Amino acid sequence: MNGQRATTHATATSLALLAAWLVCQTTVRIVLGYGDYFPPNFRSDFLLGREGTFFGGYQWAFYAHIVSGPFCLSSGLALLFERAWAPRRRLHRLVGKAHMIGLLFVMAPSGLWMSAYAATGRVAGFAFAVQAVLTAAFALLGWRSAVRREFSTHRIWMQRTFAMLTAAVVLRLIGGASEVLGLEGVYPYSAWASWLLPLGSLEIARWVSSPMAPGTLRASGSPRKTAISGSTSRGIH
Ligand code: HEM
Repeated sequence: MNGQRATTHATATSLALLAAWLVCQTTVRIVLGYGDYFPPNFRSDFLLGREGTFFGGYQWAFYAHIVSGPFCLSSGLALLFERAWAPRRRLHRLVGKAHMIGLLFVMAPSGLWMSAYAATGRVAGFAFAVQAVLTAAFALLGWRSAVRREFSTHRIWMQRTFAMLTAAVVLRLIGGASEVLGLEGVYPYSAWASWLLPLGSLEIARWVSSPMAPGTLRASGSPRKTAISGSTSRGIH
């Protein structure tokens, strides 16, 4: 039983590290591509054919989004490593607040605005709009539970928020894979898959490691370790 739990924990840690590496690598790649946006290059992949819509309100949403997106993704990733923040509680709160403000007031609203102009049409646009609303809702619920000092609940909502943020990475991974495989027309559906897959995986992982799952009953009273952070339900707070 102990051996099985150790294996599960090691697998979860390896998966979390792999995900962290993918997030870092993709974020760096995204930011390295910003040469096409300052000034806007309408022959680049993303801006191709957008001359007509770019110079209205779109450009403000776009620039706000491409600055706040990488900030929210990287601060969200950093905040997941709870043990590293344990001796730095005030800094955790400060970074957490900056993350929330960037997400709620800049990244999600700008993503919502841009969803109305999604390059591949309504199916993708609707997926981005739902993603924007859910991400903001999860973050708000996470904020509320932190204010109420319900830290186990806070952790769950912030993990869900981060799963939604990794959609930016998953979308680009699916895009890369479909290019290699020569698949066409998948983008609108990958916009849905990009957040449904990480959110679904997180919920399955949470269920598998919950006391309700078969074979995971524990002695009562012992604080349970979480798969992602390795910290106890008491958290860092
Ligand atoms: C709530 C989460 C998010 C929503 C709803 C959202 C929405 C969108 C939408 C609608 C577009 C335009 C897509 C199109 O026209 O086809 C877009 C583009 C973009 N997003 Fe996001 N996004 C989110 C999170 C992020 C994150 C976390 C990053 C960080 C890396 C990011 C970085 C970008 C960039 C750089 C673009 C410009 C296109 C490119 O260079 O690939 N977004 N986003």
